[in-house]
Amino acid sequence: MELERLQKYIARCGVASRRKAEELITSGKVLVNGKYVKELGAKVNPTRDRVKVDGQLLEPEALEYYIFNKPKGVITSITDPEGRKTVMDYINSVKARIYPVGRLDYHTEGLLLLTNDGTMAQNLAHPSKGVTKTYEVKVKDRVFDEHLEQLAVGVTLEDGVTAPCEITDYGFNGKTGLTTVEITIHEGRNRQVRRMFEHFGYSIHNLKRINYAGLTLKGLKRGAFRKLTREEVKQLQAIK
Ligand code: URA
Repeated sequence: MELERLQKYIARCGVASRRKAEELITSGKVLVNGKYVKELGAKVNPTRDRVKVDGQLLEPEALEYYIFNKPKGVITSITDPEGRKTVMDYINSVKARIYPVGRLDYHTEGLLLLTNDGTMAQNLAHPSKGVTKTYEVKVKDRVFDEHLEQLAVGVTLEDGVTAPCEITDYGFNGKTGLTTVEITIHEGRNRQVRRMFEHFGYSIHNLKRINYAGLTLKGLKRGAFRKLTREEVKQLQAIK
């Protein structure tokens, strides 16, 4: 087991935020293996060291994993200073201190993963892992094949060239005036899918994430969430 910063470990045990944990340490309330530790640089071995705060022996929270079908008009954040609805408003019955892995825009709907497993969250978000994300994109107007071909190979955005991606074209619907496209990307840049289509002057009517690292929204209504199954957790843990 890797060593972990003391304040991070205290926060992970759910007794205080990381900042509050720092205050507890510097004010001499934290004992590690029977000795007071007041320096913020201290590290602990979470499986071996015994950490007490105000006399209470700490135990890390059990790791929990949830999938959420985020509606549009909800912010991917724990709190919002502007008072908008956040994903936490939907999952407030969960006692564990879970948080979103990555983010979906305010106007994007679909699959969002939440967990208190910081190691997994960091791993999935790391660009080198190339975790797959599939989006259903409803584009206003017709989309030219040559634009889709260019998007699949890579286009130059303000933060660099996009990596190759897979695209399925479901065609233009004359009644709705929309083209439906499915796009699977292996990166997670800010507003990436919107910016890819905007690059060619298209505007997006609706954007929905329908697959994340092999997980799907099957059976999950908009605004609903559920725990991942053991197999699904294993599937995510296998991404190394
Ligand atoms: N790409 C976007 O443009 N927005 C999202 O929310 C996710 C991917």
